[in-house]
Amino acid sequence: MTVATVDHQQLTPELNICRLVNGMWQVSGAHGRINGTAAVQNMFDYYDAGLTTWDLADHYGPAEEFIGEFRRQLQQERGEDALKQLQAFTKWVPRPVKMTKDLVEKNINRSLQRMDVESLDLLQFHWWEYRDRGYLDALQYLADLQKAGKIKHLALTNFDTEHLKIITEAGIKIVSNQVQFSLIDRRPLQNMVQFCQEHDIKLLAYGTLAGGLLSDRYLNQSEPRRRELKTASLGKYKQMVDAWGGWSLFQQLLSVLQQIAEKHQVSIANVAVRYVLEQPAVAGTIVGARLGVSQNIAENLRVFEFELTPEDKDKLESVFAQSRNLYQAIGDCGDEYRR
Ligand SMILES: NC(=O)c1ccc[n+]([C@@H]2O[C@H](COP(=O)([O-])OP(=O)(O)OC[C@H]3O[C@@H](n4cnc5c(N)ncnc54)[C@H](OP(=O)(O)O)[C@@H]3O)[C@@H](O)[C@H]2O)c1
Repeated sequence: MTVATVDHQQLTPELNICRLVNGMWQVSGAHGRINGTAAVQNMFDYYDAGLTTWDLADHYGPAEEFIGEFRRQLQQERGEDALKQLQAFTKWVPRPVKMTKDLVEKNINRSLQRMDVESLDLLQFHWWEYRDRGYLDALQYLADLQKAGKIKHLALTNFDTEHLKIITEAGIKIVSNQVQFSLIDRRPLQNMVQFCQEHDIKLLAYGTLAGGLLSDRYLNQSEPRRRELKTASLGKYKQMVDAWGGWSLFQQLLSVLQQIAEKHQVSIANVAVRYVLEQPAVAGTIVGARLGVSQNIAENLRVFEFELTPEDKDKLESVFAQSRNLYQAIGDCGDEYRR
């Protein structure tokens, strides 16, 4: 594997990221048992494949600590310069309590300490309840911490277009919004993408593989029962598939994906990721990594080896035309967290 196979994008003039981002929700414990030593060791494989951008959160179990430990080992084994290639994007997902300067700073300090960094590359902020406008206070305090050098760039996760607009109009500079975006969940195309393009905000997409459902593994398989879905991720996206159109239509989608994949000599998972990478405003797609348990690095790097043709997209459109409109069924990006 060579580092040259990974596409990069400037998220900001100072921040260059891999367009395939390694997701760390999969180390939280909800996706099977993780061995810390093996997990951190496995992070070297991603690094050596050129996949040097990580997505994590304060509540993904030991994810922030894994970044801290990986940084220490990387520095020790490869020297200080090796750290410059690494980007780690955490999130702050506070409980809906009153936002004070002290509370915000305490939580950011905790991430800094766990990740063993002086400044966070990107802090992605989540908020549970729009009726509580405390999110604007929190973001103002986060902007102060950015000025103080504790955060390099401010970002959001799961914000809808309406509230992204309110935040932008309040003068808070947001770099990216992390949202669900996949062949199943195309809600960002309704409003979010256009707003982001107009305001130079990038999207980081999750759910692109639907936890692994959008892959060869599930082609021609009968509908899995709840207890057969072994990770929290598979459970989450099976519900999306149900809302989108159900298992039979999903099989039709997989079959079309297989035809496209065969033509390009790649996998269904590759086509699923490629589709999202080619959408406007998308800087990168996040693919979950069950560190020390399973690894799909070589296969996933192939997303940079081909492009979808207009005929491929037409074939996909013919399946989309039969699905339910998730924007109407659920709402804008992130609304599933607020029902
Ligand atoms: N902001 C948010 O609210 C939010 C929500 C969810 C996720 N996320 C972020 O997005 C990341 C991804 O999580 P996700 O839930 O969306 O999961 P995902 O990336 O859709 O699925 C991850 C799973 O896909 C499977 N997979 C990977 N490559 C594959 C391939 N080439 N062929 C077949 N299967 C493959 C792996 O299964 P095996 O392990 O079995 O190989 C892996 O565990 C998270 O880690 C997190 O960083 C953010």
